[in-house]
Amino acid sequence: MNKFIVGNWKMNGSLSLVDAFLDSIEEQNVAVAIPQAFLAYAYSRNPKFKLAAQNCSIYDKFGAHTGEISADILAGLGCQYVIIGHSERRHMFEEDNISNILKKLNNVISNNMTAILCVDEQYERLINRETSEFIKNNINNVILAYEPLSAIGTGKTSSISEISNVLNLLKQKYFSVNILYGGSVNSKNARDILSISSLDGVLVGGASLKLGEFKEIIAASKDLIA
Ligand code: PGA
Repeated sequence: MNKFIVGNWKMNGSLSLVDAFLDSIEEQNVAVAIPQAFLAYAYSRNPKFKLAAQNCSIYDKFGAHTGEISADILAGLGCQYVIIGHSERRHMFEEDNISNILKKLNNVISNNMTAILCVDEQYERLINRETSEFIKNNINNVILAYEPLSAIGTGKTSSISEISNVLNLLKQKYFSVNILYGGSVNSKNARDILSISSLDGVLVGGASLKLGEFKEIIAASKDLIA
């Protein structure tokens, strides 16, 4: 399978940008985490486009939880992937509670989606014993995204050797789980990063908001097999 390219628009974008992406991205190794409010529109326009959500509730199914969106609702909107534990959620919204992250992982998997679990340099703190067991038991439906804090939104990627070292450690520790790298990936550095043999793909923030740039990153994944 080709290396996986996931865009994360964060709280950005518009319906016209959704249209532009739907009209010009056909590659099957690509998913985009657009804002949740655009998901239904995107799914109804093109059910084949791989959609990701940027978060889900710790609560599953329905209930009196104002402002929350359950994994169940996301699955009904055609989402195939849900990003869990992104550092911006952990730091800006105090969602750093490990047992809540595990609840979200459970909700994603029990709704037949794949979780993209973000970890930083402190991955051992973020993946406790239970989470590690969870990964082991759901190895085909959990992807790790290694996103060093110093690289997110800063324009400073980690070096190729630093990334490879951490990936190798993560793969040894967590049952050869699939791993993405995230943090200042752009069209210039994508090919070098994607060429790391133990890497399964990239999670792209800022550079996923410009269609041309994102398409160049997708092109950089051509012929690279995970
Ligand atoms: P960035 O964001 O590519 O803008 O650094 C990555 C992320 O937050 O997932």
